Amino acid sequence: MELRDWAIRILGGDTMEEKLLDPGTLTDREPGPPLIWKTPSRPTGMEFQRRTREGKLPPFQEHKDPDKRALCLHRFAGHELLAVEIMAYALLAFPEAPPNFRKGLANTLKEEQGHVRLYTEQLNRLGMEFGDAPLFKHFWSHVPFLTSPIKYVSTMSLTLEMANLDFAPMYGASFARNGDDKAAALMEQIFKDEVAHVSFGFAWLKKFKEKHMDTWDAFTASQSELLSPKRAKGFLLHEEPRRKAGIPEHWIDNLKNA
Ligand SMILES: [Fe+2]
Ligand SMILES: [Fe+2]
Repeated sequence: MELRDWAIRILGGDTMEEKLLDPGTLTDREPGPPLIWKTPSRPTGMEFQRRTREGKLPPFQEHKDPDKRALCLHRFAGHELLAVEIMAYALLAFPEAPPNFRKGLANTLKEEQGHVRLYTEQLNRLGMEFGDAPLFKHFWSHVPFLTSPIKYVSTMSLTLEMANLDFAPMYGASFARNGDDKAAALMEQIFKDEVAHVSFGFAWLKKFKEKHMDTWDAFTASQSELLSPKRAKGFLLHEEPRRKAGIPEHWIDNLKNA
């Protein structure tokens, strides 16, 4: 299947089957003209809720309650679905990006589809369906600012995905403390994949930035206007996974001070 056709089916599909469509062998012979997708279609009941502020996630001290853990997993599944859609958006918006960037982005998208499936499995185990709780626009609000590939990697890979290097292990540890090894193992898997997604973003930031510019300056100049570097971390900064993803020391220092 062509990348463009796959991305259109993901954004235009109104079933989870379309959102999670396995494209088989992907080709990119006709990336076509840039296509700016306004809002993704969603299965009935899974549309963005018209609420500007999403409800708070259940606090860590409530994680003994399986229903509360399920609510956390539901929120994370929603983030993964948004990642799928934003990556499809980028494939359509940047047909002229380097073919290897598009290929890497497509591979990441497939992993995000896998994450939606894995979260759905855990939700089902805890007696919940994906779509039982409201879903919000969150990350999609940044889409109007993703006007070039460097803005995409600075916003998605190096801010939103990077922050998950802190959130995924925190939630994983909490689920483990509360005896939910399956949910903890899922967070571990997500965390490992996220290291690779951040690494992909940093590698391409280096290629996309102006030669004379420092990577940090290029990053902060290219983030969504709704974000700041602070959003690239959780309450606790995990340094090792960032190093593993190839993030330089001065980024780690800057993030500590952000
Ligand atoms: Fe993911
Ligand atoms: Fe990711």
